[in-house]
Amino acid sequence: MARLTFMFWMNATLLLIFVAGHTTLWISGINRLHGLPWHDRTLKPIRHLHDFAIVAFPCIVLWRVGLTGPKLLLGGSWSALDAFWQVVFCICTLGVFGLAWAIVRHLAYRPPRQQIRQQSTVTDIARQLGSKPIGHGPHSRLVRFPGNEQFSVELSQKTFLLPQLPVEWNGLSILHLSDWHFSGTIRKEYFEQAAEIASREEVDLVCFTGDLLDNPALVDWLPSTLDRIPARLGRYFILGNHDWYSDFQPTRAKLTGLGWHDLGSRCEVLEINGRRLAIGGDETPWIGEHPTFPGDADFLLLLSHAPDTIAWARAQGVDLMLAGHNHGGQVRIPGLGAVFSPSLYGCKYASGTFYEAPTLLHVSRGLAGIHPLRYRCRPEMTRLILQSGG
Ligand SMILES: [Fe+2]
Repeated sequence: MARLTFMFWMNATLLLIFVAGHTTLWISGINRLHGLPWHDRTLKPIRHLHDFAIVAFPCIVLWRVGLTGPKLLLGGSWSALDAFWQVVFCICTLGVFGLAWAIVRHLAYRPPRQQIRQQSTVTDIARQLGSKPIGHGPHSRLVRFPGNEQFSVELSQKTFLLPQLPVEWNGLSILHLSDWHFSGTIRKEYFEQAAEIASREEVDLVCFTGDLLDNPALVDWLPSTLDRIPARLGRYFILGNHDWYSDFQPTRAKLTGLGWHDLGSRCEVLEINGRRLAIGGDETPWIGEHPTFPGDADFLLLLSHAPDTIAWARAQGVDLMLAGHNHGGQVRIPGLGAVFSPSLYGCKYASGTFYEAPTLLHVSRGLAGIHPLRYRCRPEMTRLILQSGG
């Protein structure tokens, strides 16, 4: 009897590990597909297939392997497993290795030595407003989930020590904003409050790295939200894949009309204290092409919607790259971190700071998302302070 109980728990554990491997493979695949320039119309049915496969597989395993066939949960032996299931479990094992690697990478992550300081303040905007600013857009039920951090906005300040930064720019500040996703699900008041918080920070540059509108009709929200944030030297933006899903030209026109610099597929040079800062914008793979940086700039700053352009940025010698798109995964599991991250690199660059010589990459968690659900992954606005030396 004791042996039967032991075998039951051992086999149940092994089957659970294979199920985890299977789930990992599907999520890994769906993450990478979302890094491709495919329209949401194409991705949506694949997401539904992914959801179905993840739920159905454990049921099928339980029935065909645990309770019938080799009856592994009823005292049966693995030697009775047929060739089909042997192949299936071999494939699942690949996913198990992937999951183990993801756990190790998450636990080993530390910001690079270039990030010498970080501090942050959190504001509960729902409490400030007196109620949750929930509108009538898609997925509005998600916002009401208990413990959802969607309205708990973190304003973080990170100081980067960069040897290549001209000494004349010591202390240059950049407000990095990303992924505001106006959809109507979260009311305008949330973004107005966020803009109010951000506008209290004195900064030299404001950089927005894409995904502004899911509902193009909400372009009129811009003057009382994003546009309230000032910058001493200029405000720059690019668009993202969610802007690309619908007609994004009115968004460009509106922001440009408000005095923002459109960096889509292009580069501008800003002279600061006699030194040349080149700021480029990259909306690929969804819109346009990579920008062309001039050869005589003192420092290259890249705004890229996705961090997936990191290899290209390194090849160009980009000094600092700002990205969004991955939202930090939105739901982060203790010990594992982000699970869903729509990137060719999976969860590697879900959010945070990374250094891959010669490029320092900062990936924002963004402020919202079409699925307004966040756990252990607060919405973020970041003030970056650049210091020369190191
Ligand atoms: Fe986004």
